[in-house]
Amino acid sequence: MKVLFTYRTLTGNTKKVIEAMYDEIQVEKEIKPWNEIESLEGYNINFIGFPIEAMGPSPQTKEWLAEHVDGKRIALVITHGSPDDTQPLQEWLQKCRDAAVGAEIVGLFHCRGDMSEQLIDGMLQSGNPQFVEWAKQAKEAPRGFPDASALNKARTFAQDTINQLS
Ligand SMILES: Cc1cc2nc3c(=O)[nH]c(=O)nc-3n(C[C@H](O)[C@H](O)[C@H](O)COP(=O)(O)O)c2cc1C
Repeated sequence: MKVLFTYRTLTGNTKKVIEAMYDEIQVEKEIKPWNEIESLEGYNINFIGFPIEAMGPSPQTKEWLAEHVDGKRIALVITHGSPDDTQPLQEWLQKCRDAAVGAEIVGLFHCRGDMSEQLIDGMLQSGNPQFVEWAKQAKEAPRGFPDASALNKARTFAQDTINQLS
């Protein structure tokens, strides 16, 4: 069993979650940021992490997925600034699945990751009422995500996903 963990991260949250998964599992494994990956060939499963950007996968994320995941067995690992019960979150996650449509998606883990101060300020100034509302909520929300509970769930997800393949 050979497993790859790879990620796109802008502020470190997704990297933290992927690293927790990587540390947990005891098989032959590699961990690399996306820009160091040429191919997902040769792994039994690839854990692919990225953040939600503007209500879905970013154009760069879509492009990377389109280029790399066809025919591969993958688990998606997604972080987002909004709380888990945010109404449109399931739609954003579906867009992520859709962006990896050529792959065999064996699991999807998602958790919250702090929005950067820079992003919150940008949203406040965006003039878009929905973004302003989310930014205000984010300003008042507790910080520290991904928290210990999310990282524990991430470890369990990775282990369970691997166990299902063995
Ligand atoms: C440009 C940009 C757009 C974002 N858009 C959203 C969004 O639409 N919904 C959301 O829940 N979080 C959004 N976020 C927050 C990130 O998804 C969240 O903070 C994530 O954990 C960042 O992961 P990273 O630190 O690995 O980059 C956005 C972040 C950035 C930088």
